[in-house]
Amino acid sequence: MPELNDRFGRKHTYLRISVTDRCNLRCLYCMPEEGMVFMEQDKLLSYSDILEVAASAANLGIRKFRITGGEPLVRPGLEELVAGLSALPGVEDISLTTNGLLLASQAAKLKQAGLRRVNISLDTMDATRFKFIARRGDLNKVWEGVEAAAEAGLTPIKLNCVLLKGVNEDEIGRFLKLSIEQPLHIRFIEYMPIGHDDAGWRDHYLPLNRVLEEAARLGYELMQDEGPRGSGPSENWRIKGGAGTFGLIHPISEHFCKNCNRLRLTADGHIKPCLYWVDELNVRPALGSPAAMEQLFFKAMDIKPENHEMAALLAGDKQSHVPTVRRMSQIGG
Ligand code: GTP
Ligand code: 5AD
Ligand code: SF4
Repeated sequence: MPELNDRFGRKHTYLRISVTDRCNLRCLYCMPEEGMVFMEQDKLLSYSDILEVAASAANLGIRKFRITGGEPLVRPGLEELVAGLSALPGVEDISLTTNGLLLASQAAKLKQAGLRRVNISLDTMDATRFKFIARRGDLNKVWEGVEAAAEAGLTPIKLNCVLLKGVNEDEIGRFLKLSIEQPLHIRFIEYMPIGHDDAGWRDHYLPLNRVLEEAARLGYELMQDEGPRGSGPSENWRIKGGAGTFGLIHPISEHFCKNCNRLRLTADGHIKPCLYWVDELNVRPALGSPAAMEQLFFKAMDIKPENHEMAALLAGDKQSHVPTVRRMSQIGG
């Protein structure tokens, strides 16, 4: 069976599918407060187009699909896509990354359609601070989403917490405690400059060794952990006696590109070999031809770069390629 191996010997088994660039929040690390010029609806791939791309991907050894946005749950009828993905041969994992706001009403039907698990963004446990970071929405709704996901069996549940210097770094201890008390996997994430390199990023970037320092300061005994299913780029830990675990996703202070196994499909139909760089391949000309679609995936392997250079950006060094102009909400993380 053909495989997706790139020039650096990395085998690709994971496709992240963005279904919309729209979102019902405006997280300060992701989207400007005023929003963006959103993709026109007729520029989005239909679910059947996406399934065509996914079918070729599955033929080439993709085993794990993650649905992302923007906020994927704002696109109606997502269960149709989930059901289509679960019918593809060889698929082992279908998951969703969401801000949780609309999850309570959709968890059960997504589970029924074949969704396995969810990763939910949660950067703070303080309702006022939530309004500062996300600029819209309501923290209670996110918790309702977490509960509904647990009830529906969309587990293991991972909570994604982007750490921002001077904003939520004082909550590290609170999140660590949550990983002791609940069977949740808390993932601390370094703030990445995707599609922007502004003062905000430089001011708020926080390297994740802060988390281990805080755990030591609190006297926690840490044990390295395999982590829950599908622990892509995360380095995982359990606090001794904890019901849950926590993970560190540190693309900048210590990048994990040598183990990269993922490709991305944007909502407007472009394969992105790397989150960080500008290069993309338009799938539209290949729709209707499985052979052409497979060629496009092989081309993605040919042009995939060895690594990103976010650390170079931080240091002010010149970079070797052109960084992406898409913001995080237009790629899906
Ligand atoms: P699992 O399948 O549960 O391991 O999820 P995941 O970590 O692959 O997906 P999720 O959407 O929850 O992403 C968590 C964080 O990791 C987000 O901030 C992503 O932007 C980041 N991330 C995921 N993949 C990559 C990657 O290839 N490179 C970089 N730099 N960051 C990534
Ligand atoms: N840096 C790091 N993580 C980010 N996310 C969104 N924007 C950024 C960024 N600039 C996270 C979201 C979500 C996941 C898909 O990516 O919080 O959990
Ligand atoms: Fe929306 Fe997610 Fe971006 Fe926040 S991080 S604005 S929830 S797409």
